Amino acid sequence: MKRLIFATNNKHKVEEVRAALDGIVEIVTLAEAGLSGEIPETADTLQGNALQKAQWVWDRTHTDCFADDTGLEVDALGGAPGVYSARYAGEHCSFDDNIDKLLAALEGKSNRSADFRTVICLIEGGEPKYFEGRVDGQILTERHSNGEGFGYDPVFMPDRFALSFAEMPLDVKNTISHRGLAVAKLAAHLK
Ligand code: IMP
Repeated sequence: MKRLIFATNNKHKVEEVRAALDGIVEIVTLAEAGLSGEIPETADTLQGNALQKAQWVWDRTHTDCFADDTGLEVDALGGAPGVYSARYAGEHCSFDDNIDKLLAALEGKSNRSADFRTVICLIEGGEPKYFEGRVDGQILTERHSNGEGFGYDPVFMPDRFALSFAEMPLDVKNTISHRGLAVAKLAAHLK
């Protein structure tokens, strides 16, 4: 089976993506590929960051690989936090710090529309290709959680659902989520 290195240190993502690509490709982690260290992520777009991370692996291995980058884009905040979603409340901040900052920024605003967008960059034979997934929804006024998910999940309710991402079983989230849709496009390409 074809092997692809996934340029992430996030075990949760590796599990999610392995499940989605089961039987299509073998996903190799950075550790399994003998790579360690911080992968740079300094671009100012999701596409730029995904390319930067995948290119970092390609330059060291010359093996086909991919990386993803995700942002929460809030309409009333001009698309923020976007590419800075992980460190919205500062370097080394927690998911809770980010949610607190987001809820404060939206306090009193009636437009709570937002989307999650994921861009995957696949490098095959040195050539980058991009796959994008997006889910639209609303930012809730407070946390709703059953303990599922991570990040902004407790305050994001996708359109056509009455549950936040943090209240949904993971398999349901994966069928409609930004990353799930982007990975499905990657899977269709690889098949
Ligand atoms: P990454 O590029 O996938 O690491 O995502 C950047 C940041 O976006 C994460 O640190 C999270 O705060 C947020 N994020 C990404 N995916 C999700 C998700 O599925 N649910 C909630 N937050 C997410």
